[in-house]
Formats: sequence, C-alpha cells, structure tokens
Amino acid sequence: MRIVILGPPGAGKGSLAYLLKEELGISHISTGDILRDEIKNSTELGLQAQAYMKKGELVPDEIVLGIIETKFDSDIKVEQGYMLDGFPRTVNQAKGLDRILEKVKQPLDYVFYLESTEGVILSRLTGRRICRNCGALFHMTNKPPKQDGVCDHCGGETYQRTDDSVDTIKNRLNIYLESSLPVVEYYGEQGKIRKVDSDKEAEEVKEILLRTCNAHG
Ligand code: AP5
Repeated sequence: MRIVILGPPGAGKGSLAYLLKEELGISHISTGDILRDEIKNSTELGLQAQAYMKKGELVPDEIVLGIIETKFDSDIKVEQGYMLDGFPRTVNQAKGLDRILEKVKQPLDYVFYLESTEGVILSRLTGRRICRNCGALFHMTNKPPKQDGVCDHCGGETYQRTDDSVDTIKNRLNIYLESSLPVVEYYGEQGKIRKVDSDKEAEEVKEILLRTCNAHG
C-alpha cells in the first residue's frame, strides 16, 4: 500500500500513522518527526529548520524534498509500501514527489485527507504530550499517561511541543489553508483523494482507512 496522509495540524495524522503502521507493516515517513530529530541532534539541517518550525512556518521546499529523496533512494524498502505523513504540504512538494515516485516506479494508491474542525484541533494540540524517548503520543484529557509526565510505554519523560501554543497553532492553521489545501485539490484532480472525518475517535478513523486499503487488495 502506498499512501499519503494529509490534513490540518492536529487532525491526527501521526496518531493514525502509528496505528496503521502496526496493521499494514509499511514504512512510515513523517517529515515533522525527521525535522525534530535533526533539531534534537543539532545537525546543520536541524539548525536551518528550527527557526521556521518554532514559528509554525513551513520549512523551504528544497530542504524537505531533499529529505524525501534520500529516504526513497536509500533508507526505506519502498517496494513494501510507504505512508507519508505531513508531506507533501505545497503543490511544489507534490510535484517533486511525483518525480521521485516516477523514478522508483512506486506510484501513490491513495491520499487520505483527514478533515477536522478548529475547536477539535485546538483542544487536541494544546493537550498533546509526547514521549521524548519513544515518541508515543498522549493527550492530557483524551489519553493521559497513567503517571503525569511519564510515558506508559517506556518510562520516558513526556513533553509539550514548542509549536503547540495557541498563537503558533493559529499560524500553522493559516499556513495550512493557504499552502496545503491546494495540495488536496491537486490530488483531487488525479482522483486519489479519500476524505475522512477525523473528528471521530482514532480507532474509528483507522477502521475507515483500513476498509479502503483492504478493498484495494
Ligand atoms: P508536523 O509534525 O507534521 O505537524 P502538523 O502537521 O502541524 O501536525 P501535528 O503533528 O501537529 O498533528 P497530527 O495531525 O499529526 O496530530 P497527532 O496525531 O499528533 O510538522 C511540524 C512542523 O514541521 C511544521 O509546522 C513545519 O514547520 C515543519 N514541516 C513538517 N513537514 C513539512 C513539510 N512537508 N514542508 C515544510 N515544513 C514541514 O494528534 C494530536 C493530538 O490529538 C494527540 O495528543 C493525540 O493523542 C490526539 N488525537 C489524535 N487523533 C485523535 C482522535 N481521533 N481522537 C482523539 N484524540 C486524538
């Protein structure tokens, strides 16, 4: 299965990718996670990306496309399928992805577009906590860790992302509307978009996606 998961910040792309990875056994590529790792490791790429991410702005296309090209050239077993999360985010990135996929001869099957309302997005993102060690996702109300500040899975420390403040979330949402909604149109014209109401519970959203993937065979 070869899929892209699109949607506004907080629509649940990362949560869903985590659940689907278990079921589908395909590579999960999240440009947000990759960029945060680069920042954590103080690499040159991380230093370039940091200022953009802190303000909730998009990292330049050439940087992100370079990351994806490296993944497809060497890092993943592309013939086993892939799931892209948070990429592409501009039409230019989508066109760049088309070129990369043509080169590796692994075209997309579906683009799942997670639709979520602003109130739900704000509540999900302001309540989100993440494990510093294993990346597990929690939510202070919907899915709190058993012990405050401690990951249920590995005992690591949980933290709040610096771009999860109300002002930065609003900026991310505006940028999403301006730059990323046209990507939905782009894939709509190719007949690849499958819309999913992601205000629903994560398990329910996962089942809807799996039904589509299973129907594909
Ligand atoms: P990125 O990391 O991709 O962030 P995002 O798109 O803003 O999305 P989020 O990770 O905030 O939300 P999500 O939809 O994954 O929700 P999640 O599952 O965590 O990007 C961050 C930054 O990196 C960008 O702003 C940009 O600067 C840069 N960047 C990344 N990719 C780029 C690109 N391609 N080009 C340029 N720049 C790029 O869920 C959120 C919370 O809600 C969690 O607490 C979770 O437990 C809860 N939750 C999720 N789903 C449900 C549900 N169905 N029911 C109840 N609770 C739920």
